[in-house]
Amino acid sequence: MGVRVERVQTQPFEGQKPGTSGLRKGVPVFQQPNYTENFVQATLVAGLGDKIRGSTLVVGGDGRFFLEDAVQIIIRLAAANGVSKLIIGQKGVLSTPAVSCMIRKYQTNGGIILTASHNPGGPNADFGIKFNCANGGPAPEGVTNAIFEVTKTITEYPTCPELKTDLTAIGKHSYEIDGVGQFHVDVVDSVEDYVNLMKQIFDFNALRELVGGGNSLKVLINSMHGVTGPYVRRIFVQELGAPESCCVNTDTLNDFGGCHPDPNLTYAADLVEAMKKGEHGFGAAFDGDGDRNMILGQNAFFVTPNDSLAVLANNLECIPYFQRTGVKGFARSMPTAGAVDRVAKAKGKECFEVPTGWKFFGNLMDAGRLSLCGEESFGTGSDHIREKDGVWAVLAWLSVIKYKKKSVKQILMDHWHQYGRNFFTRYDYENCESAPAQKMMDILENFIKDTHSVGRKFTDCGKTYIVAKADNFSYTDPIDNSVSTKQGIRIIFTDDSRIIFRLSGTGSSGATIRLYVEGYEQNPETFEQDAQVVLKPLINIALQLSELQKLTGRAAPTVIT
Ligand code: G6P
Ligand code: ZN
Repeated sequence: MGVRVERVQTQPFEGQKPGTSGLRKGVPVFQQPNYTENFVQATLVAGLGDKIRGSTLVVGGDGRFFLEDAVQIIIRLAAANGVSKLIIGQKGVLSTPAVSCMIRKYQTNGGIILTASHNPGGPNADFGIKFNCANGGPAPEGVTNAIFEVTKTITEYPTCPELKTDLTAIGKHSYEIDGVGQFHVDVVDSVEDYVNLMKQIFDFNALRELVGGGNSLKVLINSMHGVTGPYVRRIFVQELGAPESCCVNTDTLNDFGGCHPDPNLTYAADLVEAMKKGEHGFGAAFDGDGDRNMILGQNAFFVTPNDSLAVLANNLECIPYFQRTGVKGFARSMPTAGAVDRVAKAKGKECFEVPTGWKFFGNLMDAGRLSLCGEESFGTGSDHIREKDGVWAVLAWLSVIKYKKKSVKQILMDHWHQYGRNFFTRYDYENCESAPAQKMMDILENFIKDTHSVGRKFTDCGKTYIVAKADNFSYTDPIDNSVSTKQGIRIIFTDDSRIIFRLSGTGSSGATIRLYVEGYEQNPETFEQDAQVVLKPLINIALQLSELQKLTGRAAPTVIT
């Protein structure tokens, strides 16, 4: 006898609109009866369209609370909808880059990633569901809007209430679904495919010489109790021969140990403190689902994600993958500082500026115009997959260190001497009330609409800046001509310094204001100065112009990066 299918009556839930990176809400929201089922059904219907019957999907998540419940819901609904096969990481665990890698390797119709990325996890923290397409990348807006439309009208979904798959052991399961057909679930090793891909991209022998021997570079990798733990142990300890002690917080915990798994100077403070002792020459941390990275040199020398991207762009030829594929173009998100643009110009490569969100890089990669890209939000990656990739970024950096035979700091100093330094800082005001945050955006919107704004002079701490351009960034995808408007307020000054304001699209409640400030310096005497000092006048101008402090009641940001 086969597995029984039942049609469950349901009603739409408000607010199931995917944000920058999928649907993110508190765990209790997802735990409401039918809430997760509704969204999964909408994802299957809108994400797969008429390919739903007979399709194959990769499913996995970052180990956070509610992961296994969500995976079992996906299994039950996929089976009843006629999906033919799910490839699922053991215990439901897969990093975001691993899902992208497996979608491409097995040429599936897409995948479902269960993560709220860098947001805290646990019974009262965040969960998330994100659909990735057959190219391995996050669904573009056309698809996420279609998912949202289905959530607004859904009245029922099919499920197999008795179906439950044992995810604890690697193995293949097959079921006969009544009136539907055969359904297969492959529970696979979470790290195997990803590690094999890394071995094809990088020269593991060279990296073993760098981090594995007696006199080798001492590295410190902090997984922040997120999903990367098993990937990092396998690659650094088993494959590259680094000592066990080089990898910390590698046990994946469903609440990330109560921490905020975001690799920046605030939330990865333990890595910063450890690196300050000077024992290690290289340090890195990743976020909950393993797509973000932070790179530090000895004594906690901080490499901004903007500079990280530019340095990699300048040295890609030392990585075997790019020796094979050649280096196509580069890209960055709009708020990301323009350091990579200077490298692109010097090397005669195309360089694209896209809105915030990794999904905007996918079309360019699929069209063969983009090899390497990054975002100020600690995302770096290449066209080896269609997600940003934290572990890849670390292996890329170690490849550069091996090739240059220089310290992280020396590599940056050389880079700045060649190209100048793009100073950058981001101020986050997390969990503000939505109305005042919106009011602030309206004030800025008025500023850019005012025809007198261009040419206006602002002076602070003795420095004067003249507005050259002010707009709300809009992007036309060069491949499919889709247009994305209102992607962030930009105020650009005549010396190329920039002030940018955006509301975050990844929060689960309230509003998070992001203020990005960039200034470019060519004078070597400034290179070792603190970005906070160099950028102070621009920060003051931004705060004054936006009335941010008055409107939000916040005297200081919650996070500075
Ligand atoms: C996710 C996306 C990134 C994006 C970031 C922006 O991490 O994968 O591509 O840069 O969100 O988040 P925000 O909160 O600024 O919208
Ligand atoms: Zn992430």
